[in-house]
Amino acid sequence: MKEVNVLVTGAAGQIGYALLTRLASGETFGQDVKVNLNLVEVPQVVSRLEGSRMELEDCGFNTLGTVKNFSDMNEASGDIDWALLVGSIPRGITINGKKIEERADLLKINGGIFTEQGKALGENAKADAKILVVGNPANTNALIGCTHGNNESQTWMAMTALDANRAKAQVANKCNLDISDIKKMTIWGNHSPTMYPDLDNAEIKGESASGWINDQNWIESDFLRIVQQRGKAIIDARGASSATSAANAAIDTVKATIKETPEDDWFSAAVLSDGSYNVPEGLIFGFPLKVDTNGKVSIVKDLPISDYAQEKIDLTTQELLDEKNDIKDLL
Ligand code: NAD
Ligand code: LMR
Repeated sequence: MKEVNVLVTGAAGQIGYALLTRLASGETFGQDVKVNLNLVEVPQVVSRLEGSRMELEDCGFNTLGTVKNFSDMNEASGDIDWALLVGSIPRGITINGKKIEERADLLKINGGIFTEQGKALGENAKADAKILVVGNPANTNALIGCTHGNNESQTWMAMTALDANRAKAQVANKCNLDISDIKKMTIWGNHSPTMYPDLDNAEIKGESASGWINDQNWIESDFLRIVQQRGKAIIDARGASSATSAANAAIDTVKATIKETPEDDWFSAAVLSDGSYNVPEGLIFGFPLKVDTNGKVSIVKDLPISDYAQEKIDLTTQELLDEKNDIKDLL
């Protein structure tokens, strides 16, 4: 059987718990691939991972390989094909008497985690490793990790698939469609309330989604607000940030990158800008992406951008530039 080596940080957290069975079950990498899991936690809770290891064993998956627990990223990163960097503090909690309201408020708390983790992955993970940052603020954390990884053959991404799934679900509900009827959903920019979910370039049954929906007022008001604020709505409703849907989006991102992207679709994640769409180089920015048969991820180019969309893209670009400026000491 083929093997894949997958590292998950924050593996004892709520997203980690929802993620592990789906990585190990054969659903993500296929029934012919053994999944070796390196689980990483802070020293205070690393012992809990033994419970996760026992549960994985008790699932009886044919596809489960080894499960190893670590609190040291250097030891955990050796020969890794895939790293899912979930470990970090979520918003909605109170630290030093201050409630963490916005993802960007997490920058000072979480940013530092990604310097060491990036370095460890850059030095020890496989040359073609793919790294998905889930921990918030995901784009700027990924920028920190990628900078310290300093390994151009590895691919760093920050997760926007959850936003893309949320956008598809809103459109499906409004138009009474199946999710699979909606393709080519792009989330431009930051995983934050400035993200821009693009219905002009998304397609419903081969037509522009905005044309199909034919309700610009809904697109610019309810749709945009609901998608941009969905993370907060979930925190308000359940008293904790999204976990099942976040783990699901991470699985979707991994699946999207291990096979060639179908001609009639693309997927959304944030990657290092190459200057496409005039987004400054050196930002981790949400783009429409495709994967080729060799697993190379590239940005879909030359999509039309309306003046309205450009305004939104400029706003999220500026926010990422500001976040980058806030953590310049970590780069
Ligand atoms: P959680 O508090 O349940 O779990 C986080 C875990 O990370 C904890 O077990 C903690 O011990 C661990 N951790 C902290 N620092 C670590 C480090 N340096 N190395 C390894 N592990 C470390 O939180 P959660 O609900 O699982 O969320 C995790 C992160 O994911 C948060 O930052 C949250 O905001 C973010 N998130 C992102 C998205 C997205 O779409 N990008 C969606 C949901 C949540
Ligand atoms: C989400 O979008 O659900 C996550 O980023 C968690 C949050 O803080 O909103």
